[in-house]
Amino acid sequence: MAFIKEEQIQEIRRRAKIEEIIGQYLPIEKKGRSLKCICPFHDDHSPSLSISTDKQIFKCFVCGTGGNVFQFVEKYEKISFQEAVIKVAQMIHYPLDVELEPSKKPVNSKYLPLYQVLNESIAYSQFQLDSVDGIQVKEYLHKRGITDDQITKFQLGYLPRTHRLHEFLSKKGFSDEVMIRTNLAVVNEYGLHDVMSSRLTIPIHDIDGNPVGFTARTMDPRDDRKYINTSETEIYSKGKLIYNYHRARQECKRQQETIVVEGPMDLFAFDKAGIHHVVATLGTACTTEQMQLIKKLSMKIILCYDGDMAGQHAIYKAGKIALSMGMTVFVANNKTGKDPDEIINMYGKDELIMIVKKPMVWLEFVHQYHLTHYDLNNYNSKREYVSIMMNEIQMIQDTFDRDYFMNQLVQETGFDFIQLKSLIPQEKKSLNHPTLIKRSRFSQMDGERKAQYEIVSQLLLSQEAYRRFKDELGFLVDDDCQAIVIELMEYYRTHQTMELADFLNCLEEERLQQLILDITESELFVQEPNMDVLLGAMQKMKDCLVRRQVEQLKREMHTIQDPVLKTKMVEQYIQLLKKTKKEK
Ligand code: CTP
Ligand code: MN
Repeated sequence: MAFIKEEQIQEIRRRAKIEEIIGQYLPIEKKGRSLKCICPFHDDHSPSLSISTDKQIFKCFVCGTGGNVFQFVEKYEKISFQEAVIKVAQMIHYPLDVELEPSKKPVNSKYLPLYQVLNESIAYSQFQLDSVDGIQVKEYLHKRGITDDQITKFQLGYLPRTHRLHEFLSKKGFSDEVMIRTNLAVVNEYGLHDVMSSRLTIPIHDIDGNPVGFTARTMDPRDDRKYINTSETEIYSKGKLIYNYHRARQECKRQQETIVVEGPMDLFAFDKAGIHHVVATLGTACTTEQMQLIKKLSMKIILCYDGDMAGQHAIYKAGKIALSMGMTVFVANNKTGKDPDEIINMYGKDELIMIVKKPMVWLEFVHQYHLTHYDLNNYNSKREYVSIMMNEIQMIQDTFDRDYFMNQLVQETGFDFIQLKSLIPQEKKSLNHPTLIKRSRFSQMDGERKAQYEIVSQLLLSQEAYRRFKDELGFLVDDDCQAIVIELMEYYRTHQTMELADFLNCLEEERLQQLILDITESELFVQEPNMDVLLGAMQKMKDCLVRRQVEQLKREMHTIQDPVLKTKMVEQYIQLLKKTKKEK
């Protein structure tokens, strides 16, 4: 990845407003003068993460996570610092010459023969589409509205009746072993035979674009196995794969949105309508692992499964998984009861585009979904419905949406607002509140440590304080504090004033960043430049140092025999003692 200049990083940091960037991921609430949101870094229920617009930093007062805008994106997206800088630059449209390319991972050489045999098989299947048998599959695709360009783009093909692929691959020099390892062939009582035969084939790739298997559709309407997929292999694990991930990646990141469909045919329909930020879960059951992959593409998803009952259940399940991961969930506004591939063929492109351009918010979907399961004319059923809806409403972070749907519930059920609120479980107040622990940790700490934190807090406030410190003390005994002092030296060499959010970038270790945030956000320390505080704390440090020297001398004097040396030490000792007396 290209190198981003220090000045550019600073420029981006300054131009990007942390509240706006965080706002793109999470709904932000204004509470008095401060901005707050639900913390995505722990299981938060009330907004605990506060954003300082003055300092351009964020900090969660429960789990302690904090930092500047880059560190937020880095942690949220689980990406590198460099990637976070590029991402933020893109978000504010800052012209940066580096691309947010997926870092090309080196291919694991162990799997190379597997990728090779799969690539050969894909080429073979593409070629077979023009064979005597294959041509009917091509016609089938055309009839379903799939264009030749799409056939090429998605590498669609046909695998003929059994043994042909095996024969072809053997002639090409591939061993039976690699064919079995990729599940292209299996052994039965008659020997080796092809897994996918007489079927339309759709190659599947992993997130890096390596071929890992096939999903294959039968041409025989009587075949009850409509699709067969590669079974679990070293490189293919159904619950962990997303179809089209590598092709859609850039577009999902650019649009900050991912459309999730069930099958490849649905995805081809969107592709034809010019919508390319689409992935498929290959079946209705979306797993947590799959959602984790989707989350890396965008925090926002639009679920676009079949309009039938199974599709609705699947949306509900997938949506819950996504919500629990802090994602924002929309549901395609599909009133047709059909799947996207049927929609494009029956109603045309515009209808398909409309269902994702004007999607339902999650609660709108959930409302419809639960309503089909309860009878509001029956009191008991109505109560159950209300309680389940209150649970759903509570999971949503957007307070505007929450109020809207609470009101809707009031109107729909005749329960009043206060009754509904009583259904919200009281938040558990844990005794082990990390902030409280931190407070007591600070208040119980020994004087020397406290003095060091006081010094650091003052050094972070002004260059003047730093100069004074450098001249009069120059170092701190605590390793972490000293590491911060060293970074400060470099920072003040190149900067006139302190921008905390910039300084945080200079620290590579997260521990140090956290310590700084704990100190700068703590009420225990004076949070404005104050020379008296600095001088007082430095004096304390000097006292501690002298006292330590005295102790050391005392210990050494007992072991020294040389009378001259011993006299010298005694003199030194008396001098030091005088010093400590004077300072008291
Ligand atoms: N599926 C599967 N095995 C099956 C049926 C379905 O793996 N026996 C997966 C496929 O990935 C399929 C998805 O579930 O794309 C959705 O199933 P379905 O709605 O039945 O298929 P469609 O995508 O509508 O396929 P088509 O339009 O070709 O009938
Ligand atoms: Mn379909």
